[in-house]
Amino acid sequence: MSKVAIVTGAARGIGAATAQRLAQDGFAVAVLDLKADDCADTVSAIESAGGKALAVGADVSDAEQVQAAVDRIAAELGPPVVLVNNAGVTRDNLLFKMSDADWDVVMNVHLRGSFLMTRAAQKHMIEAKWGRIVNLSSTSALGNRGQANYATAKAGLQGFTKTLAIELGKFGVTANSIAPGFIQTEMTKATAERIGEEWESYVAKRAAAIPVARAGIPEDIAHTVSFFVSEGAGFISGQVVYVAGGPRN
Ligand SMILES: NC(=O)c1ccc[n+]([C@@H]2O[C@H](COP(=O)([O-])OP(=O)(O)OC[C@H]3O[C@@H](n4cnc5c(N)ncnc54)[C@H](O)[C@@H]3O)[C@@H](O)[C@H]2O)c1
Repeated sequence: MSKVAIVTGAARGIGAATAQRLAQDGFAVAVLDLKADDCADTVSAIESAGGKALAVGADVSDAEQVQAAVDRIAAELGPPVVLVNNAGVTRDNLLFKMSDADWDVVMNVHLRGSFLMTRAAQKHMIEAKWGRIVNLSSTSALGNRGQANYATAKAGLQGFTKTLAIELGKFGVTANSIAPGFIQTEMTKATAERIGEEWESYVAKRAAAIPVARAGIPEDIAHTVSFFVSEGAGFISGQVVYVAGGPRN
C-alpha cells in the first residue's frame, strides 16, 4: 500500500506541523494550500529532514481544483490513503453584524472544502482497503461569541466525521475529528490583532484560563493526528477529541 497523505492548509500553522509529523511517520505528504508557492517552507522542512513532499496549490472549496489536485497527487506521489482536512478561515463578528459573505466563506472552506476533498480522496482509500480521515473541528463547536459561522461549521464537521465513520468503516477507513482549543498560530494572532490586544499578553491571558497552564502549539495537534493515523488506532472511528489543555478551553 502507498503511504501517501494529504494535508490541506499546510503552508503554515497546524497544517504545516501536521505535514512534517506525518512525513516523520513515513508518509509522502501532499502539502496543499491556496498557492503552491506558499507551501515551499513546509516542503523544504520535510525534505531537509529526509522526507518526501509535494507542494499543491488548490482552493478546497472549488470542486474542479480539488479533483485536479487529488488526481495529480495520486499520479505524482501515489494514491492518497490519509486525508487531513485542516484548511480553515475565520470571519468573526457578532451575529447582527455578520455579512452573508462572511457566513458563506466560512461554510465553503470548512464544510464544502472537507466534503469535496473527502469525496475525491476516499476512492483511493477504498481501493487500498485502508484509510484515515482526520477533520479539524474546534472547541468553538460548543459555541463561541462572535463565531456563529465558525462554530456552526466546526460543529457540522463533527456530524460529517461521524457519517464518514459509518459509511466507510467496512472499507478499512476510519474518520475522526480533533477539536483544538487555543493554539498559537497566524489565525489566533489575527484574532489578537482584531481585538487590539498585544500578542504576548493575549497568549498569557488565554493560558491562564487553561487547566494545563499553557497555550497550545501546532505540534500538540500534529501529535493527535499522528495517533489517529497510526495502525493501532484502527478501532477508533467517528470520535471527537478535544485537544485543549482541559475539558473545554
Ligand atoms: N489556531 C487555533 O487556535 C485553532 C483552534 C481550533 C481549530 N483550529 C483549526 O485548525 C485549522 C488550522 O488552523 P491554523 O490556526 O493553523 O490556521 P492558519 O490560518 O495559520 O492556517 C490555515 C491555512 O489554511 C489555508 N487555507 C485557507 N483557506 C483555504 C482554501 N480555501 N483552500 C486551501 N487552503 C486554505 C490558509 O492559506 C492557511 O495556510 C483550521 O481548520 C482551524 O479552524 C485552529
